Amino acid sequence: MSKLLYFIFLLSIGVVFWGGWLSAPSTKTLKLNSPQTEALRREMIDMDIQLRSLASLISLGYRIPASDASRHLSDWQNENHPRMKEAFAQLVGEFKRDNTLTYATQVFSSAKQISSILKASKSPDWNLVQNHLSKILQNCRNCHVIYDVKY
Ligand code: HEC
Repeated sequence: MSKLLYFIFLLSIGVVFWGGWLSAPSTKTLKLNSPQTEALRREMIDMDIQLRSLASLISLGYRIPASDASRHLSDWQNENHPRMKEAFAQLVGEFKRDNTLTYATQVFSSAKQISSILKASKSPDWNLVQNHLSKILQNCRNCHVIYDVKY
C-alpha cells in the first residue's frame, strides 16, 4: 500500500471511531435510596397513565377531557405527597445536578400549551395539539436516553 493510501486508511478509521464516540450519548446513573426510588417510580407511572389517557383523548377529539388530562401533565404529581415530599425534593435535586430537570419542565410546558389551546377555542388546531404531544414524548425519551431507561 502506498503511504498516501495507508494514511487515508488510518484517517478513515479515526473518523469512524471518533464519530462513534461523539455520537454515543453519555449516560448517567441515579444513585437513589429506597424512598427516592419509590418516589421516582410512582411519578413515572403517573406520568405514563396521564400521557396515555391524554393521547387517547386527543385522538378521539374530546376537547375538554383532553384539556383536563393535560393539566395533570403540567407539573409533578407526587411533589406534595405527605409521605414522599422529602424524597421527592431530593430526587428533583438529582435531576437538577444531572441537567435533566429541563426535560421534565419541557414536558410540563408542552402540556400547559395543550391545555390552553384546547380551552381557548371550540374548534382548536388539532395539528398544533399533536405537535405539542410529540414534544412531550420526545422529552420523556430524551431523559430516558440519559439514564439508559429502556422505555
Ligand atoms: C427527568 C427525567 C425523566 C423524564 C422527563 C421522564 N422520565 Fe420516565 N423515567 C426516568 C427514570 C430515571 C426512570 C427509571 C426509573 C427506575 O429506576 O425504575 C424512568 C422510568 C420510567 C418508566 C418505567 C417505570 C417503572 O419503574 O417501571 C415509565 C413508564 C416512564 N419512565 C414514563 C415516562 C413518561 C411517560 C414520561 C414523559 C411524560 C417520562 N417518563 C419522563 C426519568 C424520566
